[in-house]
Amino acid sequence: MKRLLLFPDTTQIEGDVLTIAGCDLAALAETFGTPLYLYDRATLDHAVEAYRQALAAAYPGPSGLTYAGKAFLCRALAEWIGQRGLWLDCSSQGEMAIAVAGGLPPDRILVHGVNKSAADLEAARRHAGVIVVDNLTELARLAERPEIWLRFCPDVQVETHAHIQTGRAGSKFGLDEKQVEEAGRLCREKGLPLKGLHFHLGSQFREAAPVTAAVERTLALAARLGLGEEWTLSPGGGWGVAYHEDDLPQPEVAAYVQTVAQAVVAGCRRYGLPLPRLQFEPGRSLVARAGVAVYRLGAVKQTGGRRWLLLDGGLADNPRPALYAARYSALPVRGAARPAAGPAWFAGPYCESGDVLIAGLPFPAVEAGEWVAVPVSGAYQLSMASNYNGACRPAVVWLEEGTARLIQRREVPADLLRRDLSLLVNPSESR
Ligand code: LLP
Repeated sequence: MKRLLLFPDTTQIEGDVLTIAGCDLAALAETFGTPLYLYDRATLDHAVEAYRQALAAAYPGPSGLTYAGKAFLCRALAEWIGQRGLWLDCSSQGEMAIAVAGGLPPDRILVHGVNKSAADLEAARRHAGVIVVDNLTELARLAERPEIWLRFCPDVQVETHAHIQTGRAGSKFGLDEKQVEEAGRLCREKGLPLKGLHFHLGSQFREAAPVTAAVERTLALAARLGLGEEWTLSPGGGWGVAYHEDDLPQPEVAAYVQTVAQAVVAGCRRYGLPLPRLQFEPGRSLVARAGVAVYRLGAVKQTGGRRWLLLDGGLADNPRPALYAARYSALPVRGAARPAAGPAWFAGPYCESGDVLIAGLPFPAVEAGEWVAVPVSGAYQLSMASNYNGACRPAVVWLEEGTARLIQRREVPADLLRRDLSLLVNPSESR
């Protein structure tokens, strides 16, 4: 079944029920409740291997992988990052705190951010090995550590939703060519350790060709800056994944890495530059397909000629359909092989018409009380989840070789009150 290709590598239909890593999804939903997010370790590991093998095959210089924590981060994931020898891209002191709790040392932590706060900069000084500078004001605040890379905006467009384009002139991200040169001069003057150049063109693109132009412009700058023997070029992340069976086959990581690597090798030869360390920074293409969301179907209704399947989650744990018109797919946890009984509209319980997770997907006849599994749920869902309507964020379970471990407990209403202070209690009494 084509739809099954969207699920983690270890997914099977055993008897009548979907299993991942040998764990029965119906049993997991029963035990942990829903909405439930599952992460399959084997799929995460395979995704890392795909990048590493592609780099080994295509790039003769040193290389590495930084996982973009914004896609999904928690303590257990940071621990996995440590075990796999990845670096972690953190966007704030909050993500750095999770990285540190997961045991990551400074030489594995890299910090990004458009407007890093004083607290972010202080956390970076203590916990990070690399800081990627977004603007000249920020540069003026830095000292001898950590190592500095400059974020260059190369004015290159990739094909994706406008909200997740980042590499065109006029974007809020990074420095233009003149500013990069000015930053290079300031680093020399102040003796700051400028060691790399970075760009990130956007997210969820499937054509690698535009990255070549960005590599070319970045290498031209590196040559002008006189970056020496040990420098890093990071082409950021952004490689896309298939969310729906119509998007298959899966965009190939190997082809993407090869295109970028060849552009770097050819450009360095042309400019007489030493080969940099080539450090990719993927989030989604490492973590999206490893994640599955499981919902309980609370009711089925027909209105306006549509078959509505009403789930116990949606907009609050996955705002992506509302924000980017993202198109998802799904299977029933039991009886996934049943034939479709016409299109279905999957909606959540939240007070907003935009809370439609999937529109018009061919789906079997299902009844209230059944569970539905939504694949490719590992990236930018939980990390963008909210407490809208008092929603409690889902539990997260790690699946590995037949075992299921809770790595994030479900929120409870008491969590929603944890930061709240009363107007009615006398402050002197509450002290
Ligand atoms: N590096 C930088 C500097 C980034 O800003 C990002 C993503 C990445 C790497 C990783 O990109 P990825 O490989 O995951 O595409 N919320 C949106 C995606 C926002 C991406 C933000 N930056 C979504 O749900 O599609």
